[in-house]
Amino acid sequence: MCGIVGYLGSKNAYPIILEGLKRLEYRGYDSAGICLYNGNKLISNKSKGKISKLEKRISKLKTFHGNIGIGHTRWATHGEPNDKNSHPHSSNSNDIHIVHNGIIENYSAVKEELINKGFHFHSETDTEVLVNLIEYIQIKENVKLGEAVQLALNQVIGAYSIAAIDIKKPDEIVVARLGSPLCIGVGKDEYFIGSDATPFLDYTKKAIYLKDGEMAIIRNHKPTQYRKIADDSFTNPTVEKLEIDLAKIQKKGFDHFMLKEIFEQPSAVIDTLRGRLRLKKGIIKMSGIDDFIDKFLSTNKITIVACGTSWHAGLIAEYMFEKIAKISVEVEYASEFRYRNPVIDKSDIVIAISQSGETADTLAAIKLAKKQGAFVYGICNVVGSTISREADAGSYTHAGPEIGVASTKAFITQITILFLIAVKLGKSRGVLSSKQFREYIYELNSIKKKITKVLSSNDKIKKIAAKIKNATNCLYLGRGYNFPVALEGALKLKEISYIHAEGYPAAEMKHGPIALIDKNMPSIIIATNKLYYDKILSNVQEIKSRKGKIIAVVFEGDKEISKIADYTIEVPETIPALTPFVTTIPLQLLSYHIAVKLGRNVDQPRNLAKSVTVE
Ligand code: M6R
Repeated sequence: MCGIVGYLGSKNAYPIILEGLKRLEYRGYDSAGICLYNGNKLISNKSKGKISKLEKRISKLKTFHGNIGIGHTRWATHGEPNDKNSHPHSSNSNDIHIVHNGIIENYSAVKEELINKGFHFHSETDTEVLVNLIEYIQIKENVKLGEAVQLALNQVIGAYSIAAIDIKKPDEIVVARLGSPLCIGVGKDEYFIGSDATPFLDYTKKAIYLKDGEMAIIRNHKPTQYRKIADDSFTNPTVEKLEIDLAKIQKKGFDHFMLKEIFEQPSAVIDTLRGRLRLKKGIIKMSGIDDFIDKFLSTNKITIVACGTSWHAGLIAEYMFEKIAKISVEVEYASEFRYRNPVIDKSDIVIAISQSGETADTLAAIKLAKKQGAFVYGICNVVGSTISREADAGSYTHAGPEIGVASTKAFITQITILFLIAVKLGKSRGVLSSKQFREYIYELNSIKKKITKVLSSNDKIKKIAAKIKNATNCLYLGRGYNFPVALEGALKLKEISYIHAEGYPAAEMKHGPIALIDKNMPSIIIATNKLYYDKILSNVQEIKSRKGKIIAVVFEGDKEISKIADYTIEVPETIPALTPFVTTIPLQLLSYHIAVKLGRNVDQPRNLAKSVTVE
């Protein structure tokens, strides 16, 4: 939810931390700050607003450098975004400074205790409470920073990744994590810290991903010490080789990451299918499924847990799994599932879908499922993410880094994986004949071309966006596989344009939403499914007769709905289960162009962050 960066070595830490924070800005962008040890004292600069604002402030200073430092880009949880609540936070003596990603749940009780002991607070944050608890323990127990951090973390409840520095020991940075990600880049005589590895990709390809409940005392002149937070045992973490391509996290000439990511979808699907869809052999190879095929064949029920866009992918999977593999599926918001006493046991399979692999609710849901004995399968995009590590097995989507806060290519690659699983299980369970299996995989193989064709309607969609950009409410309607697409279209519009939108199954319109229809209310209708075509045609007429504006997504060559709709967007025909691949993309583009025309910050919409690592 926030981004953490750190550096310890012989280079000037400021530009490394600043550029690193820019790469993590997708995690939060309502304030930023940096603290450096300049060889003499700790110097800190922080402010409300984006990193560019901090950069401007610092550029006015005569000097702001040092070889050790920590930085933070914030998505506010406790306390509004303002200068005081920005990180780094310092202890009362100003000796210790920390940056924190996560939430300390018992912070108010701890704060009260500290106030009784004479501590005072300048911000409303839980982080300031933590740094003062560390200081209190350090003084009381007469211990060094590492031990004080460890003792303090054993007293707090919540989720965190932190980096701390102490003027009394300025050649070390103490980091720890529980529930929020943190990795350490290992260079030659230098260390880097990041919420993910992107801040230090220019400097090293070697990284250590701290596990939940681990901490490290990173030191300049002595070997770094890795240990568990809960006890004094040492750990011996593995140094991993990073495979992330730096070019993939740049805009490559597009105005926004979101647009770039929308246009990357044909190649992202190919990357997801690579090695898995083996047309010549007529097989789908997925080791995560193959290795546990008995579980998938014997289970009676699959529960999918996810949030936001990933939840929409799960809803599409429900239609796919039930139709293609005849497996009963339930799709749950992870945030509800985790508190609902779900009836899950060792015969169950729980599939967790998450782009980031760090979403706190999804992580908690799979922990609960595992505790109850279920087999957990993770579908994540970020390699090495917490959910991918916690799951018993899984598949990476290989969409490449998704920087735009609004999820686009991650969604398309999630449904690619889910379709592969459905077809694979359909075959293994004897539901699909060899002929049907081949038809499915050949159609999947042609989807890249169809997506590319949809993208060629970009200019037309841009013009439609100009016509409806001033609407204050929009309705998205679809049926079957396209009902979740309607939900996803509405979510995309809401999050980046701030226009209120609702997604509905088209047939539900007459049970309420139709009351909203008037000349000011555009309805975006997905009308590609032949099975429901006549029924959707009736819906279109119902809207038209109430003077509603209609934007219809139809198959190429559509005759009826195109005659009535105000605007049509044609997409290539495909089988029902694959229609979301071609119908989602026009809705992504429509939202994108509306948001751009309204002057919104498309890649970093207000109040949002890329990964939600708090409850
Ligand atoms: O990283 P995850 O897929 O677990 O994230 C889940 C949601 O937070 C995410 O999909 C969110 O809804 C996006 N902003 C949607 O565009």
